[in-house]
Amino acid sequence: MDLLLGIETSCDDTAVAVVGADGKVLSSVIASQISVHSDFGGVVPELASRAHEAVMVPTLEEALRRANLSTTSPGLDAIAVTVGPGLSGPLMVGVATAQALSVAWNVPLIAVNHLEGHIFALGLDTTFPRLPLVVLVVSGGHTMIVGIRELGKYEILGRSYDDAAGEAFDKVARLLGLGFPGGPEIERLGNSGDRGAIKFKQAVTKGKYDFSFSGPKTAVVRYLRENTGFDSADVAASFQESIAQVLARKTIEAAIDFGANSVGLSGGVGANSRLRELLGEIGSRNSIEVFLPARTNCTDNGAMIAEAGRFRLEKFGPTTLPIDVIPSLKFG
Ligand code: KG4
Ligand code: ZN
Repeated sequence: MDLLLGIETSCDDTAVAVVGADGKVLSSVIASQISVHSDFGGVVPELASRAHEAVMVPTLEEALRRANLSTTSPGLDAIAVTVGPGLSGPLMVGVATAQALSVAWNVPLIAVNHLEGHIFALGLDTTFPRLPLVVLVVSGGHTMIVGIRELGKYEILGRSYDDAAGEAFDKVARLLGLGFPGGPEIERLGNSGDRGAIKFKQAVTKGKYDFSFSGPKTAVVRYLRENTGFDSADVAASFQESIAQVLARKTIEAAIDFGANSVGLSGGVGANSRLRELLGEIGSRNSIEVFLPARTNCTDNGAMIAEAGRFRLEKFGPTTLPIDVIPSLKFG
């Protein structure tokens, strides 16, 4: 299976990519909806569906063109599409498009779990890390530490039982009057702040590798209320530090317990420089090799869906049509 198309519409990015042999990304186009949702400080599902519909065809054509393929008869080997978890309206746009193309071009279709897609981002433009492996998947909707001894079988070693890490970044950014999505804004502002200025206490969790991010967010609310002359850059840097520290530390500890020699990172928050730096530092101190995909492969994209689709197709064969979206699709 040499040439796969990947379609991802589970949230607010319309993403289409073409991936060649060995996970080589031939094109990856992402139509962002930031301007559609920024006034609301979060993703509005109904607006997202409409925006996906409006840009799907041009995004697809652009992905084919950038990969030097014909837009009418591209000669693909398969099409992979995200079926869940995610927002149902947005997912439907991707799935309807993928099914129509699969029939029109007579190529197999593969249904992909968005979270398995994030795992396969580690195989884009490089060789997939050796197993056993532990991956920190950390995005706007999910925060989990995944243990993998065999591809296709995922053990959830820890997760957040309230807000996802990205969600906490987004909420704190809103408290500081920053734009959406909040993660990159906090990172930018935090660059000029002192990360040791404020100690935001870590939440105590039941499971050793679980997370809680609503506590740190509440700690920021309290700090802002009690310190009227606060320095926003210090708050941003210190909040980012508290989240990055707990994510990196627990992931490396989980990898040691799991007997993994390598750790991977994926999901939008995986673009965060301080998290990347800390994982590398704590990993090397413990002789764990850390794999950091390019930032553009950490955030939602179609290439990771194509790469997960290649694995599924080779191992289990194509998905039978018609396929349904599964907004609350389980993982692990
Ligand atoms: O994986 P993703 O693109 O979409 C979801 O599946 O959620 O992740 C989006 C999340 C948002 O919450 C955003 O604030 C966060 O990733 N994010 C970051 C950074 N870039 C994106 N968080 C911290 N630092 C960043 N540089
Ligand atoms: Zn994602």
